[in-house]
Amino acid sequence: MKPLRKAVLPVAGLGTRVLPATKSIPKEMLPVVDRPAVQYVVDEAFEAGIEHIIFVTGRAKSAIEDYFDRAFELETILQGKGKDDALKTLAAILPEPGTMSFVRQQAPLGLGHAIWCARDIIGDEPFAVLLPDVLIQGQPGCLAQMTRIYEQHGGNIIAVDEVPKAEVDKYGVIDPGAKTGRLSEMRGMVEKPAIDAAPSNLKITGRYILQPEIIDLLENQETGAGGEVQLTDAMVRLMQEQPFHAYEYDGTDFDCGNRLGYLRAIAHYAINHKDLGAKARTVLENALSH
Ligand code: G1P
Repeated sequence: MKPLRKAVLPVAGLGTRVLPATKSIPKEMLPVVDRPAVQYVVDEAFEAGIEHIIFVTGRAKSAIEDYFDRAFELETILQGKGKDDALKTLAAILPEPGTMSFVRQQAPLGLGHAIWCARDIIGDEPFAVLLPDVLIQGQPGCLAQMTRIYEQHGGNIIAVDEVPKAEVDKYGVIDPGAKTGRLSEMRGMVEKPAIDAAPSNLKITGRYILQPEIIDLLENQETGAGGEVQLTDAMVRLMQEQPFHAYEYDGTDFDCGNRLGYLRAIAHYAINHKDLGAKARTVLENALSH
């Protein structure tokens, strides 16, 4: 079994559900408390042992690439002013050189197409996919939980969790088979089903461990829901050929791609913040009582 070393973060989306905030900055750079949303997802990947992150970007997303690079001018000014704490903050988020790649998706043709755009950098290895719209609080993080399962079972694993029935049409939804603990066999899955046709209320949460054979399937995948090339449709085909499990992770997810999900994320990450937590709680309570 090849080790899991690479993760793909598709960040080409336009962020239309959070306009106008995303008119001139990528949605992944919107701050959640004191750092951009994408930082949490990168931290989750590195915590899980990922060694190389592949961003699938698009036009107007260069702020993400700049964020993960040195900022010489800023650092020089901070050094001159003796701002050591600020310099430490910057040093802590700087990835090791050569551990991030950036490839562009030239047109918004869907999540499946975005992953396919990363094929040359993925190569012939298993890889993780983390959708940066989705922040997940978990101890350890969701991908670290999944890598433990992967080490035991191999194959393909997707994170799932329950969603109210009325919301199943916004997600990929699985048809679970036999269940052992948090792990289910897979009978099927469907992208954005009609509410009455959904096979369960277990949604695909946005964390995947996939074998490289998915790339060949994506290559000739027909368009599906929303007229886009869907990763879910290619996974349905992969499921016929390889072991595939759904894992009900331990944690809470926040969909930062919509305004209320983003607000929930800010509130939760604020009250759990190691320095600001207690004060943030008071701020939120005061806001409610005035
Ligand atoms: C994508 C996936 C879907 C998954 C969702 C999680 O959909 O295609 O299967 O449930 O992310 O957020 P999107 O949100 O891009 O429409």
